[in-house]
Amino acid sequence: MGTYAVTGAASGMGREVVDRLRAAGHTTITVDLRDADVVADLATPAGRRTAVAGVLARAAGSLDGAVLAAGVGPVRGREELIAQVNYVAPTELLLAWRDTLAATAAGTGVSSKVVVFGSNSASVTPGIPGALVAAHLHDRPGVRARLLKVFGPNAAAFAYGGSKLALSRWVRRTAVAPEWAGSGIRLNAIAPGAIMTPLLQTQLDGPDRDRIESFPVPVGGLGDAGQIAEWAVFMLSPAADFLCGSVVYVDGGTDAYFRGSAWPASSSMLSVPRWLLRSRAFAKRAVSGS
Ligand code: NAI
Repeated sequence: MGTYAVTGAASGMGREVVDRLRAAGHTTITVDLRDADVVADLATPAGRRTAVAGVLARAAGSLDGAVLAAGVGPVRGREELIAQVNYVAPTELLLAWRDTLAATAAGTGVSSKVVVFGSNSASVTPGIPGALVAAHLHDRPGVRARLLKVFGPNAAAFAYGGSKLALSRWVRRTAVAPEWAGSGIRLNAIAPGAIMTPLLQTQLDGPDRDRIESFPVPVGGLGDAGQIAEWAVFMLSPAADFLCGSVVYVDGGTDAYFRGSAWPASSSMLSVPRWLLRSRAFAKRAVSGS
């Protein structure tokens, strides 16, 4: 049985993940604003330090995985909070827990697994400015704050979608690095669509209700928090050993509806490693198109 840190564990999908892990006999170290082993405000540097230290103290050197579910929705006027909780917190916490995740994997011979909660808002929110995503990824909080102030009525949607887009890209870039994939850690993201939780209820109670209810969901209706938790728990299991840097969409088909032809897409030649470009077999395939 393993030990797993879960943020956002007091509500919604995080709580469903905790219930399932505990029912399976695992130990959980929960982090949230309330009702958690480690009570911490992940929107602040001090709260993040508390979360890092609290989890490491309870883990006592053995952390088999983590689920980063804490998040705040696209509520107007909370743009900086969204950035702090949805992007800064999961990336900071994971960087601080990496050594223990890697050491546990080395000690057990089983890869440690991390599931980060992204969102299909990363890809289905139209027009998220690239500069905002870059400001997250390059750690430029001043630029990010200035951009969020000029987006007017789109600010909350861009702040939310931008935080999740940057987070998904961070997961994909980080997951494949020697310090992660090469050190026995499997880092992946799940991208839910609209799931019935308190976070979504807050949005349904606000001015965006019509927009949310009319959003295309090919299978119809809203998703179930327990079902998403099942996916997250599967991504923590040994069956997910070969899953690395993936963003798993579980959204009733919304992303496929909007981007059916846009993804997957062939990589640009610029992103192909040099050694592969030099290989004769690759050159032949590129010419024949096979
Ligand atoms: P929820 O509101 O039920 O749970 C979120 C948890 O995060 C709460 O327990 C809350 O206290 C905690 N949290 C918020 N701010 C915090 C802070 N400053 N410090 C510590 N903890 C904090 O929400 P839900 O829906 O279960 O969301 C889980 C994750 O899934 C979030 O990252 C959310 O962005 C994401 N998501 C949710 C979707 C939905 O439709 N419900 C869709 C796509 C992604």
